[in-house]
Amino acid sequence: MNLKKCHNFDDYRKLAKKKLPSPIYHYIDGGADDEITLKRNTESFNDCDLIPNVLSDVSNVDLSTTVLGQKIDFPLFLSATAMHRLYHHHGERATAKAAEAMGTMFGISTMATVSIEEIAKLTKGPKLFQLYIHKDKGLTDNLIERCKQTGFNSMCLTVDTVVAGNRERDRRTGFTTPPKLTLASLLSFALHPGWTINNLVHEKFKLANIVHMTDKGSSIDKSVIDYIDEQFDPSMNWKDAEYCVKKWGGPFALKGVMSVEDAKKAIDIGCSAIMISNHGGRQLDGSRAPFDQLAEIVDAVGDRIEVILDGGVRRGTHVLKALALGAKACSFGKGYLFALGAAGQKGVESILQKMKEEINRGMILMGCKSVKELNRTKIKFR
Ligand code: LAC
Repeated sequence: MNLKKCHNFDDYRKLAKKKLPSPIYHYIDGGADDEITLKRNTESFNDCDLIPNVLSDVSNVDLSTTVLGQKIDFPLFLSATAMHRLYHHHGERATAKAAEAMGTMFGISTMATVSIEEIAKLTKGPKLFQLYIHKDKGLTDNLIERCKQTGFNSMCLTVDTVVAGNRERDRRTGFTTPPKLTLASLLSFALHPGWTINNLVHEKFKLANIVHMTDKGSSIDKSVIDYIDEQFDPSMNWKDAEYCVKKWGGPFALKGVMSVEDAKKAIDIGCSAIMISNHGGRQLDGSRAPFDQLAEIVDAVGDRIEVILDGGVRRGTHVLKALALGAKACSFGKGYLFALGAAGQKGVESILQKMKEEINRGMILMGCKSVKELNRTKIKFR
Protein backbone atom coordinates (compact mmCIF):
# COMPACT_ATOMS: atom_id res chain seq x y z
CA MET A 1 0.00 0.00 0.00
CA ASN A 2 1.23 3.51 -0.81
CA LEU A 3 -0.10 7.06 -1.08
CA LYS A 4 -1.40 6.49 -4.61
CA LYS A 5 -3.73 3.83 -3.24
CA CYS A 6 -5.19 6.17 -0.61
CA HIS A 7 -8.65 7.29 -1.64
CA ASN A 8 -10.31 8.04 1.65
CA PHE A 9 -9.81 8.48 5.39
CA ASP A 10 -9.63 4.74 6.07
CA ASP A 11 -6.92 4.27 3.46
CA TYR A 12 -4.70 6.96 5.04
CA ARG A 13 -5.43 5.42 8.42
CA LYS A 14 -4.35 1.97 7.20
CA LEU A 15 -1.16 3.33 5.68
CA ALA A 16 -0.35 5.21 8.90
CA LYS A 17 -0.91 2.01 10.85
CA LYS A 18 1.67 0.30 8.66
CA LYS A 19 4.21 3.09 9.07
CA LEU A 20 3.88 4.07 12.74
CA PRO A 21 4.85 2.17 15.88
CA SER A 22 1.64 1.08 17.54
CA PRO A 23 1.75 3.42 20.60
CA ILE A 24 1.87 6.37 18.18
CA TYR A 25 -0.81 5.06 15.85
CA HIS A 26 -3.15 4.40 18.76
CA TYR A 27 -2.49 7.83 20.23
CA ILE A 28 -4.02 9.33 17.06
CA ASP A 29 -6.70 6.74 16.53
CA GLY A 30 -7.99 6.41 20.07
CA GLY A 31 -10.68 8.11 22.11
CA ALA A 32 -11.72 8.11 25.75
CA ASP A 33 -13.37 5.27 27.71
CA ASP A 34 -15.52 3.16 25.37
CA GLU A 35 -14.95 5.48 22.40
CA ILE A 36 -18.69 5.99 21.97
CA THR A 37 -18.35 9.71 21.35
CA LEU A 38 -15.46 9.09 18.97
CA LYS A 39 -17.73 6.87 16.84
CA ARG A 40 -20.78 9.08 17.13
CA ASN A 41 -18.82 12.11 15.91
CA THR A 42 -18.75 10.61 12.41
CA GLU A 43 -21.99 8.62 12.55
CA SER A 44 -23.96 11.76 13.43
CA PHE A 45 -23.59 13.01 9.85
CA ASN A 46 -25.69 10.05 8.67
CA ASP A 47 -28.85 11.16 10.44
CA CYS A 48 -29.59 13.76 7.80
CA ASP A 49 -29.52 13.91 4.04
CA LEU A 50 -28.58 16.49 1.46
CA ILE A 51 -31.24 17.71 -0.96
CA PRO A 52 -29.75 18.73 -4.31
CA ASN A 53 -31.14 21.13 -6.89
CA VAL A 54 -30.52 20.34 -10.54
CA LEU A 55 -30.04 22.34 -13.77
CA SER A 56 -28.18 25.11 -11.91
CA ASP A 57 -25.18 25.77 -14.24
CA VAL A 58 -22.42 24.68 -11.92
CA SER A 59 -19.64 25.07 -14.46
CA ASN A 60 -17.89 27.45 -12.03
CA VAL A 61 -17.95 26.67 -8.34
CA ASP A 62 -16.36 28.88 -5.69
CA LEU A 63 -15.41 26.90 -2.59
CA SER A 64 -13.66 29.74 -0.80
CA THR A 65 -14.72 31.18 2.52
CA THR A 66 -13.35 33.42 5.24
CA VAL A 67 -12.73 32.13 8.70
CA LEU A 68 -11.11 33.91 11.65
CA GLY A 69 -10.35 36.77 9.28
CA GLN A 70 -8.49 34.60 6.77
CA LYS A 71 -9.62 33.65 3.28
CA ILE A 72 -9.22 29.94 2.61
CA ASP A 73 -9.68 28.18 -0.75
CA PHE A 74 -12.14 25.61 0.57
CA PRO A 75 -14.12 25.38 3.82
CA LEU A 76 -11.96 22.85 5.66
CA PHE A 77 -8.84 23.56 7.66
CA LEU A 78 -6.39 21.68 9.84
CA SER A 79 -7.34 21.73 13.48
CA ALA A 80 -4.35 22.48 15.69
CA THR A 81 -3.07 19.17 17.07
CA ALA A 82 -0.11 18.34 19.27
CA MET A 83 3.37 16.99 18.55
CA HIS A 84 3.61 16.40 14.80
CA ARG A 85 7.21 15.24 15.17
CA LEU A 86 5.76 12.02 16.55
CA TYR A 87 4.25 11.20 13.17
CA HIS A 88 6.91 12.48 10.83
CA HIS A 89 10.45 13.75 11.40
CA HIS A 90 9.59 17.07 9.67
CA GLY A 91 6.87 17.61 12.26
CA GLU A 92 4.78 20.78 11.97
CA ARG A 93 6.98 22.00 9.11
CA ALA A 94 5.41 19.37 6.87
CA THR A 95 1.89 20.30 7.95
CA ALA A 96 2.52 24.03 7.52
CA LYS A 97 3.88 23.63 4.01
CA ALA A 98 1.05 21.31 2.98
CA ALA A 99 -1.62 23.72 4.23
CA GLU A 100 0.08 26.59 2.42
CA ALA A 101 0.32 24.61 -0.82
CA MET A 102 -3.37 23.70 -0.60
CA GLY A 103 -4.60 27.18 0.32
CA THR A 104 -5.99 26.48 3.73
CA MET A 105 -5.32 27.36 7.34
CA PHE A 106 -3.41 25.28 9.81
CA GLY A 107 -2.65 25.62 13.46
CA ILE A 108 0.14 24.73 15.82
CA SER A 109 -0.49 23.60 19.34
CA THR A 110 1.09 24.85 22.54
CA MET A 111 2.45 21.29 22.49
CA ALA A 112 4.01 21.66 19.02
CA THR A 113 7.43 20.23 18.27
CA VAL A 114 8.51 23.17 16.07
CA SER A 115 8.72 26.69 17.44
CA ILE A 116 6.31 29.54 16.81
CA GLU A 117 9.21 31.55 15.34
CA GLU A 118 10.28 28.86 12.89
CA ILE A 119 6.73 28.21 11.68
CA ALA A 120 6.13 31.93 11.19
CA LYS A 121 9.23 32.17 8.96
CA LEU A 122 8.37 29.02 7.06
CA THR A 123 4.89 29.80 5.78
CA LYS A 124 2.99 32.78 4.46
CA GLY A 125 -0.29 30.88 4.75
CA PRO A 126 -2.88 31.62 7.46
CA LYS A 127 -1.60 30.46 10.85
CA LEU A 128 -3.52 29.85 14.02
CA PHE A 129 -1.99 29.24 17.43
CA GLN A 130 -3.78 26.94 19.87
CA LEU A 131 -3.35 27.81 23.53
CA TYR A 132 -3.41 25.49 26.50
CA ILE A 133 -3.40 27.33 29.81
CA HIS A 134 -0.73 25.84 32.04
CA LYS A 135 -0.47 26.26 35.80
CA ASP A 136 2.58 28.42 35.06
CA LYS A 137 0.60 31.52 34.09
CA GLY A 138 3.66 33.30 32.74
CA LEU A 139 3.61 30.84 29.85
CA THR A 140 0.28 32.16 28.52
CA ASP A 141 1.64 35.70 28.20
CA ASN A 142 4.87 34.41 26.71
CA LEU A 143 3.07 32.42 24.00
CA ILE A 144 0.64 35.20 23.10
CA GLU A 145 3.49 37.74 22.88
CA ARG A 146 5.53 35.45 20.63
CA CYS A 147 2.57 34.89 18.31
CA LYS A 148 2.03 38.65 18.08
CA GLN A 149 5.68 39.33 17.33
CA THR A 150 5.87 36.70 14.62
CA GLY A 151 2.61 37.54 12.83
CA PHE A 152 0.33 34.62 13.61
CA ASN A 153 -3.16 35.50 12.32
CA SER A 154 -5.46 34.01 14.91
CA MET A 155 -5.60 32.18 18.19
CA CYS A 156 -7.78 29.55 19.78
CA LEU A 157 -8.01 28.49 23.38
CA THR A 158 -8.87 24.85 24.01
CA VAL A 159 -11.32 24.68 26.88
CA ASP A 160 -12.29 20.99 27.05
CA THR A 161 -9.03 19.60 28.42
CA VAL A 162 -8.55 20.74 32.00
CA VAL A 163 -7.83 17.11 32.85
CA ALA A 164 -6.98 14.35 30.40
CA GLY A 165 -9.68 12.01 29.14
CA ASN A 166 -9.35 8.36 30.03
CA ARG A 167 -7.46 7.11 27.00
CA GLU A 168 -7.11 3.43 27.73
CA ARG A 169 -5.27 2.64 24.51
CA ASP A 170 -2.45 4.95 25.64
CA ARG A 171 -2.36 3.30 29.05
CA ARG A 172 -2.12 -0.13 27.42
CA THR A 173 0.59 0.77 24.90
CA GLY A 174 2.61 2.75 27.46
CA PHE A 175 2.62 5.75 25.11
CA THR A 176 4.92 8.56 26.23
CA THR A 177 6.51 11.64 24.75
CA PRO A 178 9.28 11.51 23.82
CA PRO A 179 8.48 7.94 22.72
CA LYS A 180 10.30 5.56 25.00
CA LEU A 181 11.36 2.01 24.33
CA THR A 182 9.74 -0.36 26.75
CA LEU A 183 9.54 -4.14 26.71
CA ALA A 184 5.97 -3.84 25.49
CA SER A 185 6.75 -1.41 22.68
CA LEU A 186 10.13 -2.82 21.61
CA LEU A 187 8.67 -5.15 19.01
CA SER A 188 6.54 -2.41 17.54
CA PHE A 189 9.53 -0.07 17.13
CA ALA A 190 11.54 -2.93 15.59
CA LEU A 191 8.73 -3.69 13.15
CA HIS A 192 8.65 -0.07 11.96
CA PRO A 193 12.32 0.52 11.13
CA GLY A 194 11.60 3.45 8.77
CA TRP A 195 10.00 5.50 11.52
CA THR A 196 12.47 4.32 14.16
CA ILE A 197 15.56 5.19 12.10
CA ASN A 198 14.15 8.60 11.12
CA ASN A 199 13.39 9.25 14.74
CA LEU A 200 16.96 8.45 15.75
CA VAL A 201 18.83 10.31 13.00
CA HIS A 202 16.79 13.52 12.92
CA GLU A 203 16.55 16.30 15.48
CA LYS A 204 15.53 15.29 18.97
CA PHE A 205 11.89 15.38 19.91
CA LYS A 206 10.99 18.35 22.09
CA LEU A 207 7.98 20.46 22.98
CA ALA A 208 9.59 23.41 21.26
CA ASN A 209 7.43 26.20 22.67
CA ILE A 210 7.42 25.16 26.31
CA VAL A 211 10.77 23.43 26.76
CA HIS A 212 12.11 26.60 28.44
CA MET A 213 9.49 26.06 31.16
CA THR A 214 9.66 22.32 31.72
CA ASP A 215 11.75 19.34 30.59
CA LYS A 216 8.75 17.07 31.01
CA GLY A 217 7.57 15.77 27.67
CA SER A 218 10.83 16.94 26.05
CA SER A 219 13.89 15.32 27.61
CA ILE A 220 11.95 13.66 30.43
CA ASP A 221 9.43 11.20 29.04
CA LYS A 222 5.84 11.52 30.22
CA SER A 223 2.54 10.06 29.21
CA VAL A 224 0.30 12.74 27.70
CA ILE A 225 -2.31 11.91 30.34
CA ASP A 226 0.20 12.64 33.13
CA TYR A 227 1.48 15.75 31.35
CA ILE A 228 -2.01 17.23 31.07
CA ASP A 229 -2.96 16.33 34.62
CA GLU A 230 0.24 17.81 36.07
CA GLN A 231 0.67 20.89 33.90
CA PHE A 232 -2.71 22.15 32.73
CA ASP A 233 -4.64 24.48 34.98
CA PRO A 234 -7.97 22.99 36.14
CA SER A 235 -8.97 26.34 37.67
CA MET A 236 -9.23 27.86 34.16
CA ASN A 237 -12.40 29.96 33.93
CA TRP A 238 -14.20 32.60 31.86
CA LYS A 239 -12.04 35.40 33.30
CA ASP A 240 -8.89 33.60 32.10
CA ALA A 241 -10.41 33.12 28.66
CA GLU A 242 -11.41 36.80 28.52
CA TYR A 243 -7.88 37.77 29.55
CA CYS A 244 -6.47 35.80 26.59
CA VAL A 245 -9.01 37.30 24.15
CA LYS A 246 -8.08 40.84 25.23
CA LYS A 247 -4.35 40.21 25.39
CA TRP A 248 -4.35 38.74 21.88
CA GLY A 249 -6.59 41.48 20.45
CA GLY A 250 -7.19 39.70 17.12
CA PRO A 251 -9.43 36.92 15.79
CA PHE A 252 -9.96 34.48 18.64
CA ALA A 253 -11.82 31.15 18.89
CA LEU A 254 -12.84 29.07 21.86
CA LYS A 255 -12.33 25.42 20.95
CA GLY A 256 -14.41 22.84 22.73
CA VAL A 257 -17.69 24.74 23.16
CA MET A 258 -20.63 22.32 23.16
CA SER A 259 -23.57 24.20 24.72
CA VAL A 260 -25.66 27.19 23.67
CA GLU A 261 -25.01 28.73 27.07
CA ASP A 262 -21.23 28.64 26.58
CA ALA A 263 -21.55 29.85 22.99
CA LYS A 264 -23.35 32.97 24.31
CA LYS A 265 -20.66 33.50 26.94
CA ALA A 266 -18.01 33.27 24.21
CA ILE A 267 -19.71 36.24 22.50
CA ASP A 268 -19.83 38.14 25.80
CA ILE A 269 -16.06 37.85 26.29
CA GLY A 270 -15.34 39.05 22.76
CA CYS A 271 -14.56 35.84 20.85
CA SER A 272 -14.89 35.97 17.09
CA ALA A 273 -15.48 32.23 16.68
CA ILE A 274 -16.33 29.04 18.50
CA MET A 275 -15.17 25.61 17.49
CA ILE A 276 -17.87 23.12 18.40
CA SER A 277 -15.72 20.19 19.40
CA ASN A 278 -15.36 17.37 21.89
CA HIS A 279 -11.64 17.01 21.19
CA GLY A 280 -12.17 14.20 18.71
CA GLY A 281 -13.87 12.03 21.33
CA ARG A 282 -10.67 12.00 23.40
CA GLN A 283 -12.02 13.78 26.46
CA LEU A 284 -15.57 13.26 27.82
CA ASP A 285 -16.87 10.01 26.43
CA GLY A 286 -20.66 10.07 26.28
CA SER A 287 -20.74 13.74 25.33
CA ARG A 288 -22.80 14.72 22.29
CA ALA A 289 -21.30 14.91 18.85
CA PRO A 290 -20.49 18.39 17.49
CA PHE A 291 -22.72 17.82 14.46
CA ASP A 292 -25.65 16.88 16.74
CA GLN A 293 -25.25 20.22 18.54
CA LEU A 294 -24.61 22.35 15.50
CA ALA A 295 -28.14 23.46 14.47
CA GLU A 296 -29.12 24.44 17.99
CA ILE A 297 -25.98 26.53 18.47
CA VAL A 298 -26.22 28.17 15.03
CA ASP A 299 -29.87 29.08 15.71
CA ALA A 300 -28.91 30.74 18.99
CA VAL A 301 -25.71 32.59 18.02
CA GLY A 302 -24.90 32.00 14.34
CA ASP A 303 -25.60 35.61 13.36
CA ARG A 304 -23.20 36.96 16.01
CA ILE A 305 -20.19 34.63 15.97
CA GLU A 306 -18.50 32.30 13.49
CA VAL A 307 -19.36 28.70 14.18
CA ILE A 308 -16.76 26.12 13.19
CA LEU A 309 -17.57 22.42 13.26
CA ASP A 310 -14.68 20.26 14.49
CA GLY A 311 -15.03 16.52 14.90
CA GLY A 312 -15.82 13.38 12.94
CA VAL A 313 -15.25 14.95 9.51
CA ARG A 314 -14.18 12.23 7.09
CA ARG A 315 -15.91 13.15 3.83
CA GLY A 316 -16.53 16.20 1.71
CA THR A 317 -20.27 15.65 2.17
CA HIS A 318 -19.78 15.97 5.94
CA VAL A 319 -18.48 19.47 5.32
CA LEU A 320 -21.43 20.21 3.02
CA LYS A 321 -23.89 19.07 5.69
CA ALA A 322 -22.23 21.19 8.38
CA LEU A 323 -22.28 24.26 6.12
CA ALA A 324 -25.93 23.64 5.22
CA LEU A 325 -26.76 23.76 8.93
CA GLY A 326 -24.90 27.06 9.26
CA ALA A 327 -21.24 26.31 10.08
CA LYS A 328 -18.77 28.76 8.54
CA ALA A 329 -16.16 26.04 8.01
CA CYS A 330 -15.06 22.66 9.36
CA SER A 331 -11.78 21.52 10.78
CA PHE A 332 -10.35 18.04 11.20
CA GLY A 333 -7.48 16.42 13.06
CA LYS A 334 -7.22 12.64 12.77
CA GLY A 335 -7.44 12.55 8.97
CA TYR A 336 -4.44 14.77 8.31
CA LEU A 337 -2.42 13.23 11.17
CA PHE A 338 -2.80 9.80 9.60
CA ALA A 339 -1.76 11.30 6.27
CA LEU A 340 1.24 12.96 7.95
CA GLY A 341 2.25 9.63 9.48
CA ALA A 342 1.70 7.90 6.14
CA ALA A 343 3.77 10.24 3.96
CA GLY A 344 4.76 13.55 5.59
CA GLN A 345 3.98 16.78 3.71
CA LYS A 346 2.97 14.86 0.56
CA GLY A 347 0.52 12.84 2.63
CA VAL A 348 -1.14 15.92 4.11
CA GLU A 349 -1.35 17.56 0.68
CA SER A 350 -2.86 14.39 -0.68
CA ILE A 351 -5.67 14.11 1.89
CA LEU A 352 -6.42 17.84 1.57
CA GLN A 353 -6.58 17.46 -2.22
CA LYS A 354 -8.98 14.51 -1.86
CA MET A 355 -11.18 16.40 0.58
CA LYS A 356 -11.18 19.48 -1.65
CA GLU A 357 -12.19 17.35 -4.65
CA GLU A 358 -14.95 15.72 -2.63
CA ILE A 359 -16.28 19.09 -1.48
CA ASN A 360 -16.13 20.41 -5.05
CA ARG A 361 -17.86 17.37 -6.53
CA GLY A 362 -20.50 17.51 -3.79
CA MET A 363 -21.15 21.22 -4.47
CA ILE A 364 -21.61 20.53 -8.19
CA LEU A 365 -23.97 17.64 -7.52
CA MET A 366 -25.89 19.80 -5.04
CA GLY A 367 -26.28 22.52 -7.66
CA CYS A 368 -24.48 25.08 -5.50
CA LYS A 369 -22.14 27.67 -7.06
CA SER A 370 -20.81 29.02 -3.80
CA VAL A 371 -20.71 27.90 -0.18
CA LYS A 372 -23.26 30.63 0.66
CA GLU A 373 -25.86 28.65 -1.28
CA LEU A 374 -25.65 25.80 1.21
CA ASN A 375 -28.48 26.48 3.62
CA ARG A 376 -31.25 24.75 5.54
CA THR A 377 -33.32 24.17 2.39
CA LYS A 378 -30.56 21.82 1.29
CA ILE A 379 -30.67 19.42 4.24
CA LYS A 380 -33.28 17.37 6.04
CA PHE A 381 -33.14 15.21 9.16
CA ARG A 382 -34.69 11.76 8.75
C1 LAC B 1 -4.52 15.37 22.96
C2 LAC B 1 -4.11 16.74 23.37
C3 LAC B 1 -2.70 16.92 23.73
O1 LAC B 1 -5.67 15.22 22.53
O2 LAC B 1 -4.57 17.70 22.49
O3 LAC B 1 -3.75 14.41 23.11
